[in-house]
Amino acid sequence: MIVLGIESSCDETAAAVVRSGLEVCSSVVASQDSLHREYGGVVPEIASRAHERAILPVVREAAARSGIGLAEIDAVAVGHRPVLIGSLLVGVSSAKALAWSLGKPLIGVDHVHAHLHAAFLGATRAELDGAFPALGLVVSGGHSSLYRVDSATELVRLGATIDDAVGEAYDKVASILGIAYPGGAALDRLAQEDGADDRAHTFPVSRLSKDSLDFSFSGLKTAVLYAVRGVPGRDEARDPSELSEQQRRDVAASFQRAACEAVRIKLGRAIEHVPGCKSLIVGGGVSANSRLRAVAGAFSEEHGLGLRLPEMAYCVDNAAMIAGLGALLLERGEASGLDLAAAPTAAC
Ligand code: KG4
Ligand code: ZN
Repeated sequence: MIVLGIESSCDETAAAVVRSGLEVCSSVVASQDSLHREYGGVVPEIASRAHERAILPVVREAAARSGIGLAEIDAVAVGHRPVLIGSLLVGVSSAKALAWSLGKPLIGVDHVHAHLHAAFLGATRAELDGAFPALGLVVSGGHSSLYRVDSATELVRLGATIDDAVGEAYDKVASILGIAYPGGAALDRLAQEDGADDRAHTFPVSRLSKDSLDFSFSGLKTAVLYAVRGVPGRDEARDPSELSEQQRRDVAASFQRAACEAVRIKLGRAIEHVPGCKSLIVGGGVSANSRLRAVAGAFSEEHGLGLRLPEMAYCVDNAAMIAGLGALLLERGEASGLDLAAAPTAAC
């Protein structure tokens, strides 16, 4: 089965062609980072308009690079939830028009769930089928969520962030250190520079209540802000641009240690909720993070789990993960109608 996937949930316009849910024939991503940089975050209206301009060229490019004509495609999958409604509408409307004009099924896919499927792109069917039950972790710019994953298409959310997502915290801390949006990857590089001391600051590691599987990253973000600028009403305000290179490295590394430690603690709690757990599946933009990948590796080794991490290209938003999961949903007979709605929240 060959599926064309379309993704426009936030600030990346993407299309991909995927065979049998796992083999990526092409994946094209048009990033809008440069349009949002001056605002320090995604501006929804700018994002929707940029999607409108990019969507057709991106779909054409994905079809051309795959060498597969649109007429040979078996179905059109689209990320229809969650994130920005105006952005989603562009992808959903385009996918509907394409599916209708080609006379092919349409499949709505949850973007957050698709982030977990990204870890199977390039895997064999046997690897996919043998991975469950699994513990799933999505760490992205908009989400930090834990799942009990019963199969590629069935999952139950165990916990989620109660405030900022981990990627959002990375981007805000990067911005405090003067790194342009989205600064997560650059912050990761800074934290890995020679001499970076991850114990220079003791930033808070949020645990919430004793058994909580939820995350909270806003306190950590504020702690970094106060460490850099001074505590309002107590310290004299400091200018972050006066930090030395060593101080910047230390803040980045200490923040990264606290953020990843919070994830490690919650993984330890969540695995108790996945009887017979065989694997740890990680997805989302922050799954590209060096320390997060190391934490996931150590955790899966400690618990005797198989580890599924996406290839770097499929950590951040892409349409291959949408097409891949769409194919598996279609296999189960879960096609959508042309009344498929865009929704700002994840299905679970
Ligand atoms: O999954 P994604 O593309 O978008 C959402 O669904 O939110 O994730 C984007 C997020 C951004 O916050 C970005 O800074 C972060 O992933 N990110 C990283 C790294 N690469 C991307 N954060 C930390 N370390 C990285 N290496
Ligand atoms: Zn995403």
